[in-house]
Amino acid sequence: MTRNDGAVAYARGWPATLTEPSLLTSPVSLRPLAARDARPWREARVRNADWLRPWEPTNPETPLYQTSLGPYIAMVRTMRREARRGITLPWVVLYDGRFAGQLTVGNIIWGSARSASVGYWIDQEFAGLGIIPTALAMAMDHCFMAVGLHRIEATIRPENRASRRVVEKLGFHEEGVRRRCLHVDGAWRDHICYALTAEDAVAGLLPRWRSTVRASRSRIGL
Ligand SMILES: CC(C)(COP(=O)(O)OP(=O)(O)OC[C@H]1O[C@@H](n2cnc3c(N)ncnc32)[C@H](O)[C@@H]1OP(=O)(O)O)[C@@H](O)C(=O)NCCC(=O)NCCS
Repeated sequence: MTRNDGAVAYARGWPATLTEPSLLTSPVSLRPLAARDARPWREARVRNADWLRPWEPTNPETPLYQTSLGPYIAMVRTMRREARRGITLPWVVLYDGRFAGQLTVGNIIWGSARSASVGYWIDQEFAGLGIIPTALAMAMDHCFMAVGLHRIEATIRPENRASRRVVEKLGFHEEGVRRRCLHVDGAWRDHICYALTAEDAVAGLLPRWRSTVRASRSRIGL
């Protein structure tokens, strides 16, 4: 549904739960962020503070690692309200049914841009298993094919090798450095802009990612 000002009143393709049941050792799912996630979100953020601090945008109004539940409940409410307005798609990443991290497509601009940016993190306990690339491939296919977005960016600190590997493995294009573009870990930091458009993923990212994972498994005899 589209209002006169071009904003989408209700997001197409939302709320959406996406699942990849058998690519990794256990199923990977994305489901919409819900009120019940405030507590596991808070616990994971506090437990992973040192792991996340160098990479997570700093927001003085909603400190990321505080132990009280109230700010997390407020953030869930805000993100769900934005999801109803079609400007954010906030997902929880589940691995084997457990809260493992988050993936959020935000800053959605409709009209002639149809663009957005994506952010993600995973609990250190689950790092290196291919969970976020799997979740990101599912999310990108959904955004291009069901929601109707055209371009999605990921901005990543040059030092963040793990995150750069995620987008490189999925074929995002590196577009250059944005100088001092985000406040992270207490200072304004340069970020590399990576982007994907709908034309880059016509046949779907997930099928491509499945073949990559299966090929690397068979190379090592799994
Ligand atoms: C970036 C991040 C989301 C990657 O998620 P993931 O599910 O671990 O992704 P992958 O399994 O594909 O691993 C990506 C890279 O992490 C590195 N890695 C592998 N095992 C790892 C481990 N146990 N611990 C840390 N990093 C590891 C490798 O460089 C890997 O690349 P490779 O596939 O070429 O070997 C995760 O490292 C994270 O949450 N980091 C902290 C927050 C963050 O950086 N968010 C993104 C901000 S832009």
